[in-house]
Amino acid sequence: MNYLPRDDRYNNKTNYRRCGRSGIKLPEISLGLWHNFGGVDVLENGRDMLRYAFDQGITHFDLANNYGPPPGSAEENFGVIFKKDFVPYRDELIISTKAGYLMWPGPYGEWGSRKYLLSSLDQSLKRMGLDYVDIFYSHRPDPETPLEETMMALDQAVRSGKALYAGISNYPAELTKKASEILKQLGTPCLIHQPKYSMFERWVENGLLDVVENEGIGIIAFSPLAQGLLTDRYLHGIPADSRAAKAWGYLQLEQVDPAIAKVKKLNELASLRGQSLAQMAIAWLLKDKRVTSVLIGASSVGQLKDNLASQKNLSFSVEELITIENILSA
Ligand SMILES: NC(=O)c1ccc[n+]([C@@H]2O[C@H](COP(=O)([O-])OP(=O)(O)OC[C@H]3O[C@@H](n4cnc5c(N)ncnc54)[C@H](OP(=O)(O)O)[C@@H]3O)[C@@H](O)[C@H]2O)c1
Repeated sequence: MNYLPRDDRYNNKTNYRRCGRSGIKLPEISLGLWHNFGGVDVLENGRDMLRYAFDQGITHFDLANNYGPPPGSAEENFGVIFKKDFVPYRDELIISTKAGYLMWPGPYGEWGSRKYLLSSLDQSLKRMGLDYVDIFYSHRPDPETPLEETMMALDQAVRSGKALYAGISNYPAELTKKASEILKQLGTPCLIHQPKYSMFERWVENGLLDVVENEGIGIIAFSPLAQGLLTDRYLHGIPADSRAAKAWGYLQLEQVDPAIAKVKKLNELASLRGQSLAQMAIAWLLKDKRVTSVLIGASSVGQLKDNLASQKNLSFSVEELITIENILSA
């Protein structure tokens, strides 16, 4: 079936926020393809989610070279879907990819060398059938490669036209500042930082949020639902089709039990606010204007729908915020 996106996709369905001090705006909620888009997954389900997201005004899809499994298959599947459904809408989309984790054997298949980053970008473009990506990230800092080399590779990716903007992911605060300074000198300012950030993972509050604000870099928070823990998914056990139950899911079974007491209390508070827990967890991140976008994952259109509705209520009373802090620190 040919896909015709909804005409009303930009009519107040999704809000957009400026990414740092750049020209780009991102949707408050973006869709990541880490899980549920690989070779082990049902392609049509992924396709339904991408179509639904775009119909709701979600303009940003996030990938990486290694997403799958097997590594590379999420980009391949995205390429198949892109060709069928999204080619006419390329200029409406922000598509990102990354390089940093292991992709091929030998000394040049991971980390942050120029050799690895630029070869990987070429491979990603081929897999997705794209001429360029909108954002190319260094996926993780490399303790052995000089930061200058990694940043020069990002600059080169942009200068060659294979990426429009440069980003970094998982870089600590101090290194982010240095990376940003180098990129500015090179003439390719860092557009965005992608850290893990949720009610359960708060390291960015110890310096990184201040650095990105000062440097004019946007923030896109990944795993905002702690891979599904911050939802009602595990309130009554481990569903067979859940990430924790899947052999290839990154969420480990043993991570579920220790979280459940807090999840139950948070879930009660979310109900009092008239939200699902997933909606409250996303809203809690978006209450901070420095957060440009929240990068969710989903395994169904129903979950996406639930999550996108979080934009209806992003405000918290002081009492609610205190209750959340008390639950989290108990
Ligand atoms: N830069 C990095 O190093 C890095 C690392 C990790 C992720 N990321 C990016 O961040 C994206 C999101 O990460 P994530 O998938 O871990 O995000 P997440 O939003 O924390 O978790 C997504 C999972 O939560 C469950 N879920 C989502 N909405 C739900 C709802 N409304 N009700 C119940 N359960 C719900 C689903 O689990 P089930 O599958 O069990 O249904 C879904 O697969 C990735 O796709 C990737 O783009 C980046």
